[in-house]
Amino acid sequence: MEESRNGLSRRQALGAISWAALAVGMTANPALATPKRAGKPSDAAKKAFVDDLIKRMTVDEKIGQLRLISIGPEMPHAKLMDEVAAGRIAGSFNTVIRRDNRPLQEAAVKRSRLKIPLFFAYDVVHGHRTTFPIPLGLASSFDMAVIERMARVSAVEACNDGVDMTFAPMVDIGHDPRWGRTSEGFGEDPYLVSECARASVRGFQGTSPDKPDTIMAAVKHFALYGAVEGGRDYNTVDMSPLRMRQTYLPPYKAAIDAGAGGVMVALNSINGVPATSNTWLLQDLLRKEWGFKGVTVSDHGAITELTRHGVARDNREAAKLSIKAGIDLSMADQVYLAELPGLIASGEIKMAEIDACVREVLGAKYDMGLFADPFLRMGKPEDDPVDVKADSRLNRQPAREIARETIVLLENRNQTLPLKKQGTIALIGPLADSGLDILGSWSAQGVPEQAVTLRAGLEAAIEGKARLVTARGSNVIDDQKVVEYLNFLNWDKPEVVQDPRSIEAMIEEAVSVASQADVVIAAVGELRGMSHESSSRVSIDMPGSQRRLLQALKATGKPLVVVLMNGRPLAIGWEKDNADALLETWYTGTEGGNAIADVLFGDHNPSAKLPISFPRSVGQIPTYYNALRIGRPYTEGKPGNYTSQYFEEAQGPLYPFGFGLSYSRFTLKDLKLSATRLKRGQKLSAEATLTNEGSYEGANVVQLYIADPYASIARPVKELKGFQKVTLKPGESRVVRFEIGEDELKFINGELKEVVENGRFDVQLGLDSHDVLVQSFELV
Ligand code: BGC
Repeated sequence: MEESRNGLSRRQALGAISWAALAVGMTANPALATPKRAGKPSDAAKKAFVDDLIKRMTVDEKIGQLRLISIGPEMPHAKLMDEVAAGRIAGSFNTVIRRDNRPLQEAAVKRSRLKIPLFFAYDVVHGHRTTFPIPLGLASSFDMAVIERMARVSAVEACNDGVDMTFAPMVDIGHDPRWGRTSEGFGEDPYLVSECARASVRGFQGTSPDKPDTIMAAVKHFALYGAVEGGRDYNTVDMSPLRMRQTYLPPYKAAIDAGAGGVMVALNSINGVPATSNTWLLQDLLRKEWGFKGVTVSDHGAITELTRHGVARDNREAAKLSIKAGIDLSMADQVYLAELPGLIASGEIKMAEIDACVREVLGAKYDMGLFADPFLRMGKPEDDPVDVKADSRLNRQPAREIARETIVLLENRNQTLPLKKQGTIALIGPLADSGLDILGSWSAQGVPEQAVTLRAGLEAAIEGKARLVTARGSNVIDDQKVVEYLNFLNWDKPEVVQDPRSIEAMIEEAVSVASQADVVIAAVGELRGMSHESSSRVSIDMPGSQRRLLQALKATGKPLVVVLMNGRPLAIGWEKDNADALLETWYTGTEGGNAIADVLFGDHNPSAKLPISFPRSVGQIPTYYNALRIGRPYTEGKPGNYTSQYFEEAQGPLYPFGFGLSYSRFTLKDLKLSATRLKRGQKLSAEATLTNEGSYEGANVVQLYIADPYASIARPVKELKGFQKVTLKPGESRVVRFEIGEDELKFINGELKEVVENGRFDVQLGLDSHDVLVQSFELV
């Protein structure tokens, strides 16, 4: 039996459904006599089915349907089977092997009184068997087809393992890179993250979550988890309603509008009220205002944590608050089981309140197609894969193609890149050959030994053409306490294996290896556990002795290509100034080494852009580009005292949102608006000419920003409102056009109403958020 909570562990796994068998071999649950459905179930049929079932349920069975359980020390597999047979479990998460899950499902549909099927959930965040780039990397593609493809392939792999629901997408806006979960999100911008949210849901759920090759998406973490104070995980969130609605809430809404069947509720409090007991959040906003019709699930142990938030006296009160707020499913805690019977008996919780939660859980199972066929995604035992980890179960080609799209070229002096496949290449750095780290955190069933490291990718690319020489050069981190902390995060076995040599000895070896080479590639950054849940940092500097290593490599005088692997923006001022080429690769996943090699050698021309600004130093946080206007802004060219700035270093981010280079040189010129006055209800277009002036075919992302310089409240200095990725041949030009109407101009006003106000708007088109062409029009 394999189970995981945090996705960091390397676990065994599963087997593949034969799709042909799935198509013909679906076995309906006879006890429930649900008719097989063709196409989308009607709401009326679903309601009638669920209502009828609820009428036949005992109180204990209802409470059972509110429990989502993970196998662990207190819940071994055998005990779970008995609990399931007794009708006391709704679903399980982290069990992802068909031969483990089948007996559980059989216990549910053969032994339990009402034969209500279980559902199986898992954190399929950026892959399942195959690991794709981390979400921050996926967002860098600025290509929604890439994200949808990642989610689609992951869903099919997860279905092959009998998974019905994913706890994804994670759409928490990240403004503070100290927060370790920045890596799991899609960056800082509400428009981009909302697009990514929609694309993910489309990919996971396909046409409907009741198909054998689709899974239900439970968007998380509702809400505002990315705004934990100081970037310290699980910390409190205090935020104005305006900022919530303007910046943080839109991505969750986008996922829900795209049809996400579930919502996972955040661990943090919001203005003093934990999300888990937050009636405003879960009832007024989610259900009433947004019309969400799916299932809500608490985060891990969050109900009992209400006592630690200090809003519940004990578990009994915690259970009561959660039910009243609208937490349908309790994840991994026993509080509902222990406390709800007493609360119902005393009348503190009404049966109608319990029924409302049960209705959503059963409704979700219905929507996942499980009443029609509890084994929909599990198939028949004879089709179970013999080797669950077989390489043939991976989707390597999509993984490589997707990963290439997520690599951001930050510097390329003297056209150091692309490299030629000739001569001697030195590959140095503690992340050069780590199959584990390249997967990133939350790598689901990704197997480090199946990951192509950068070393393996380079070797394959230059085989027979050039020589590769290698040295480790340093450890990622030097601080033993930090190593111990990171190893404690992992449940199976320690992840961080330190090289016992002194830093001096390692650097000496690295310099000697580098001096034999024509070019040096340095793979540096963070261990994947450093960008994970519960991995907040006080500094965003290059950790450990890696900077010393880079300085020593620079001193050799060889061209230095720095390949960054990290899950958050780092303060890489030195690397910016000193590397001949600088590539932000994030964590690229199973095919990462091949994808990075494709970029290094020019087999793929990079086109990704940063989905989050890079601060110069930790003290500059936050550096998000779409900040509100202020009275004393720092102005480039005429800074002056008494303007808003940090006086010890340069202003503005090191790299702005939307920034990323190409091997080709692109220009954007001639911004034209189709009109200088826009009447309400009408649209105007903004167009500019993108030209590839370089000698490589390549893509660039044209970004549309809109600024509203005068309104009833202070507005952001600019906001992303559209983007288009355009591929051009050398010498080719194309006119790129955006439509602008009230949708692009509306905002939330001081009364929290969505409005469009007349006046001047600045249209900005650029290849990043900083360097833009500007034209204005008047809304009348
Ligand atoms: C995380 C969630 C995750 C859940 C289940 C929690 O610790 O916050 O994001 O979905 O565990 O693995």
